[in-house]
Amino acid sequence: MLSGKHIIVGITGGIAAYKTATLVRLLIKAGAEVQVIMTPNAREFITPVTLSTLSGKPVISEFFTANTGQWNSHVDLGLWADAMVVAPATASTIAKMATGVADNMLVTTYLSAKAPVFVAPAMDLDMMRHHSTVHNLELLRSYGNHIIEPATGELASHLMGKGRMEEPENILKVLQAFFDKKQDLESRHIVITAGPTVERLDPVRFISNFSSGKMGFALAEECASRGAKVTLVSGPVSLKVNNPSISRIDVESASQMHDAVMDVCGDADVAIMCAAVADYRPKSVASRKIKREHDDIPVIELEKNPDIAKAVGQLKRRGQLLVGFALETDNEQSNALEKIKKKNLDMIVLNSLRDKNAGFQVDTNKVTIMRRDGSSKAYACKPKREVAADIVDEIVELLKKD
Ligand code: PMT
Repeated sequence: MLSGKHIIVGITGGIAAYKTATLVRLLIKAGAEVQVIMTPNAREFITPVTLSTLSGKPVISEFFTANTGQWNSHVDLGLWADAMVVAPATASTIAKMATGVADNMLVTTYLSAKAPVFVAPAMDLDMMRHHSTVHNLELLRSYGNHIIEPATGELASHLMGKGRMEEPENILKVLQAFFDKKQDLESRHIVITAGPTVERLDPVRFISNFSSGKMGFALAEECASRGAKVTLVSGPVSLKVNNPSISRIDVESASQMHDAVMDVCGDADVAIMCAAVADYRPKSVASRKIKREHDDIPVIELEKNPDIAKAVGQLKRRGQLLVGFALETDNEQSNALEKIKKKNLDMIVLNSLRDKNAGFQVDTNKVTIMRRDGSSKAYACKPKREVAADIVDEIVELLKKD
């Protein structure tokens, strides 16, 4: 997995720097080519000689090699790398990376790197939970960097808490898992709907449902991590996306969701309709809050919303896949099969509100995936990200058949 990979190991000035020697040794043993970059402070904690001996390459610390005047090109290094790992990453380096303060070779190379970057923080627990560190790590995540969370245990200060750099063996596992990850959706465009829709009655009231967006967002993350370009059309939810391969379009009502999906699904390879779309909306929306009248109970007249999945199914071209969801409370299988036909779906993911820990809001789901030909697979209850992986595996199978 790591054989032949070019890995930059960035070391900053923290006591955990001694553990990075082991990381370098493990990477070399796994067949990677390693270039160590140290900040000036890191040299106070571990000597460059140890690291150049383990990596088999001179360590880079400065923009110029002092005795020869040779320029160390951060741009070339950034292009050379298949991955960059900053371990340990101090609060100061994390802040510099988050804000682009390029005053040393490590941060300059980070800013030039085209490869994925992994950051393994290590610091005292108060520094770790300080608002600025929390905010800077959030920023790094939002730029698409991978944060390898520090472990909890005894710290250099002898305090107990979160802040210990993750063990080198585990950092190696994270890198191996990253390179091992299937990229079976590379160059595919996937449109996903997620969350509820909100249908206004007046400025303060609406018709909606309990969808949190968790299932749809898990699908978006899974597709993106497998190489797809994802367009995520979401109703109002409180979730965030941090993946640069996911473009998010926020909508409120079913009509807005319909228009957004129609705009983007022309060139899509796959459309996954995970949103819980309101089938009906109030026929008229009051411009002022509907007042409570004495004895009169207001009658709300409803009209049909567009069926987004059906509209995509009608326009579906050869080679395009359409995946629907069915949320049922009874007659699950037959209702789901009927939806496949009615909406011209290739596959439907059935979840039932009769199952515990499935459906709305919860972090898990229990699904049965049914194909157009009537074949089906039932899965155990698992975290929504794992359910997403099962669904994507099925989609990849169908794409291969096409
Ligand atoms: O968001 P979470 O809290 O994680 O919950 C996940 C979920 C329960 C919302 C999800 O797993 C799910 O089941 N989504 C579909 C819910 C639903 O509306 O099912 P349905 O059986 O009513 O609709 C069938 C299919 O048609 C769905 O793909 C739906 O997106 C689509 N549809 C429905 C109505 C409509 N007007 N337009 C549509 O596109």
